[in-house]
Amino acid sequence: AEVKKIAVIAGDGIGPEVVAEAEKVMKRVEEVFGYAFETEHARFGGIAIDEDGTPLPEETLRICKSADAVLLGAVGGPKWDSNPKELRPETGLLAIRKELGLFSNLRPAVVFDCLKDASTLKPEVLEGTDLMVVRELTGGIYFGEKFRREGQHGQEAVDTCVYNETEVERIVRQAFEVAGKRRKKLASVDKANVLETSRLWREVVNRIAPEYPEIEVEHVLVDNCAMQLLRRPASFDVIVTENMFGDILSDEAAMLTGSIGMLSSASLGEGSFGLYEPVHGSAPDIAGQQLANPIATILSLALMFRMTFGYSDAADAIEKAVAEVLDAGHRTSDIAVDKSTAIETSAMGDLIVSAIAKA
Ligand code: NAD
Ligand code: IPM
Ligand code: MN
Repeated sequence: AEVKKIAVIAGDGIGPEVVAEAEKVMKRVEEVFGYAFETEHARFGGIAIDEDGTPLPEETLRICKSADAVLLGAVGGPKWDSNPKELRPETGLLAIRKELGLFSNLRPAVVFDCLKDASTLKPEVLEGTDLMVVRELTGGIYFGEKFRREGQHGQEAVDTCVYNETEVERIVRQAFEVAGKRRKKLASVDKANVLETSRLWREVVNRIAPEYPEIEVEHVLVDNCAMQLLRRPASFDVIVTENMFGDILSDEAAMLTGSIGMLSSASLGEGSFGLYEPVHGSAPDIAGQQLANPIATILSLALMFRMTFGYSDAADAIEKAVAEVLDAGHRTSDIAVDKSTAIETSAMGDLIVSAIAKA
């Protein structure tokens, strides 16, 4: 098979631990399916600040741009939390998304039957939950002008939220397309009762909706959505929303699945190139202890195989392996009801690797 180039960025905290497990899965997929991957590792985030003096070194960007896809762990940690903006790991994360044109972030939240007891919610509420948050990733308040100034009452801080029609239209179209391949329901989430950017967002959705008559569209205010996600999660199919709302709602959706350690994501632009990363962060509280759940990263790799490479046989096999290992009762600590039976990060990775087989 054609050799696919994958840039691998482990990052900080639990990043290296979870990415190592996904790399084992990558090797197993080569053996079982005959695909060929060439990986190139790059420094990014806190470790790059320490070693290169910047969170996103030129070399890392070059490696990503010359690859077919990027696998990313997580960045950030207390060591860099009080750094100035340009020396923060998170600034590198925003820059890499922007530089690579990744405006669309897909975050699936699926409740595995056998994990219903791992969630803090009642099992009957979770029954059948299978939703996808489509988060706008390169606009809004994350990227608007930010500054400080002296005001009448001490320092003032300003974050501006800007969206143009083109930005809204391309993410909304993506979401309609995604909904068309699923249960054909789209919830557009905004705060149109207060925010001008949300009113523009809603106008664009209403303008495009007639082009997709088979999709049922509802507008939901973000505060209500946060509540409905806990009340009737199974009724959601695709949720499309702006950058910050999508950040918050996807962490909330993670808890439906039992743990943020279960949530994968794909960040896409116009072409097939993509960056794949777990939704969770660097988890400094558990880093370096083999406590992290590697499933979010492993499922992100499955998304890469399906969405960038079109290797759906490998993607299906990984997802099936994860389900089998969970069905057999294996749990990392975050999803274990009885923590004394929890297994380590690498043990979970090894079990999943062994379960990967051709259909
Ligand atoms: P976090 O997602 O890192 O952790 C939140 C909680 O979830 C912690 O208790 C953590 O132990 C737990 N957790 C996270 N991932 C887990 C996993 N795979 N297995 C088991 N438990 C897991 O969020 P935070 O604590 O708010 O942020 C920590 C750092 O990560 C910050 O510097 C933040 O900016 C950064 N961050 C980075 C990314 C990214 O790189 N994409 C995403 C979110 C946060
Ligand atoms: C995420 C993270 C990032 C975000 C942070 C670390 C900048 O929370 O990927 O969800 O807010 O986009
Ligand atoms: Mn987040």
